[in-house]
Amino acid sequence: PDPLTLALGMPKAELHVHIEGTLEPELAFALARRNGITLPYADEAALKAAYAFDSLQSFLDLYYACADVLRTREDFYDLMLAYLKRAAADKVIHVEVFFDPQTHTARGIPFTTVLEGLEDGLAEGLARYGISGRLILCFLRHLPEEECLATLAEVEPWLERIHGFGLDSSEKGHPPSKFVRLFARCRELGKPVVAHAGEEGPPAYITEALDLLGAQRIDHGVRAVEDEAVLARLVREGIPLTVCPLSNTRLCVFARMSEHTLPRLLAAGARVTLNSDDPAYFGGYLNDNIRAVQEAFHFDAATWYRLARNSFEASFAKATEKAGWI
Ligand code: ADE
Ligand code: ZN
Repeated sequence: PDPLTLALGMPKAELHVHIEGTLEPELAFALARRNGITLPYADEAALKAAYAFDSLQSFLDLYYACADVLRTREDFYDLMLAYLKRAAADKVIHVEVFFDPQTHTARGIPFTTVLEGLEDGLAEGLARYGISGRLILCFLRHLPEEECLATLAEVEPWLERIHGFGLDSSEKGHPPSKFVRLFARCRELGKPVVAHAGEEGPPAYITEALDLLGAQRIDHGVRAVEDEAVLARLVREGIPLTVCPLSNTRLCVFARMSEHTLPRLLAAGARVTLNSDDPAYFGGYLNDNIRAVQEAFHFDAATWYRLARNSFEASFAKATEKAGWI
């Protein structure tokens, strides 16, 4: 088979997907009806027409507005299971799923409703599709650190069920240095830490995420190529980058896929993985990202094997699990 067919059919791990970003318009309207909520769009077509973003913030505004339809444990279950069905179709066998509890608790949804619904979905996804799943709790960086510390204190009773912690939302103006105390506490609790950095923000934010937060993976990191020293360090230290190509083009980080820094990151020897970020909003799931990348760059089979292998190696799965996959 050709390299694309090989890549689409390879078992893979997905390490950068926001569960709220998997909310398809169909499900959004179904949940709105079920919960008696009126979305500010007439129908699914009108909502989809609003998916024309010019920046991360223009996307986030819509993403947070749509999340309002998520109210009950069943809603979070339906959301997770719908994502896992799509992931299974793309040969994803392990996922580390981001969720943003502050988006929900701020609306009065109890943390347990969110957590239990997502866990129900993961359990059903394991039973139906054989996908192993973990939850990574992301803090919203546009909020004050004090609020994030309060959120962390609130979720401590459920710590065993949270695999790690991350940092997402509006990057520019909210550097990792804003959250030193928060992530020190996360590490003190014995959890792995990741952070979005170098998506819209400068390479210096990648350095801060590593040095000040102790991030073990960098989410995006695609602007690392702008600073030779930062890129060299990522390579030397084998820091995984969870790259999301369709996200980057849809949010205008790059004007077109041919301008994406992915080939330069790979050529430098960075530990790149491919991921979908917010697939309902950005034009597709993991295999759609692979198709878009292949259309632009025509990678060979060895590169696709490497990317799939990287996804397992960079995961937070146990060494025994990884041994079974690689
Ligand atoms: N939340 C959901 N998707 C995100 C992204 N691409 N960057 C930052 N925060 C996000
Ligand atoms: Zn993301």
